[in-house]
Amino acid sequence: MALKIEKAAGIGFCFGVKRAIDILEKVARERGGVETLGAVVHNQQVLQRLAEIGIRVAKDVDDIQGNIVAISSHGVSPQLEEELRARHIEIVNTTCPFVHRAQITARRLAESGFFVVVYGDANHPEVTGILGWANNRGIATSNGEFMTRPGHQLPRRIGILSQTTQIPAHFTGFVKNFIDSALTKDSELRIIDTICHDIRLRQAAALKIANRVGLMLVIGGRNSANTSHLVELCSAVTTTYLIETADEIQSSWLQGQSRIGVTAGASTAEQTIDEVLTRLKTMAQI
Ligand code: F3S
Repeated sequence: MALKIEKAAGIGFCFGVKRAIDILEKVARERGGVETLGAVVHNQQVLQRLAEIGIRVAKDVDDIQGNIVAISSHGVSPQLEEELRARHIEIVNTTCPFVHRAQITARRLAESGFFVVVYGDANHPEVTGILGWANNRGIATSNGEFMTRPGHQLPRRIGILSQTTQIPAHFTGFVKNFIDSALTKDSELRIIDTICHDIRLRQAAALKIANRVGLMLVIGGRNSANTSHLVELCSAVTTTYLIETADEIQSSWLQGQSRIGVTAGASTAEQTIDEVLTRLKTMAQI
């Protein structure tokens, strides 16, 4: 039986990653190279291509060698921006506008006296940046564990928002759980859904295909938050593998399959996706 390969709609770079890469390439062309503070995207193949045009990753502020640095699409805290300015380092800001919307939301909440709860991965640069915009008057969590810590008293006014790449249904579940266990008399709660629209569409498109195929391949960086969420969603309905490149596809995965679905994280280049599709078509003919 012929193998049918289905590619999810709307994959390739998301708006924010494309914008960040366009800015970086322009600056690298004009300045003969540029450094980025941390990885500008969580995708090794993209980083390798950027390195070839003179874009170097500085591990941290002390590792910056020149006097110009680009902030990644994940954004940074205002405190970190201040530190760079104090060192007379010019900043090229590629923060995704949707991440910036979450940053501004956190700042407004904190300035209005709300304790900010960011639903997300506390170690992810986007989340640490957002907390900085709340002037560190907040916490990041993916399970609400802090609510049950002995002796922990929740502030009366709480604002909840989400890391942009989270799964919407999980955010809703988190909020419901929060209301059930943490709301008391006189509590005041503000909930702002800051999940990115691209991520919402990408997850929905991936799930639609995953529901009708026997195997799903998710292409993306192993350290990419939005890619791991695609894997999590697809794994719940079908056999799913995460791959970074076409070379990782194993022929045994294809045995007995009649339909295979392909999706990709927001920082996976079109070229990598095409290579995977071509490899799948070749393997299907052997
Ligand atoms: Fe921005 Fe959404 Fe991409 S937040 S970086 S457009 S995944």
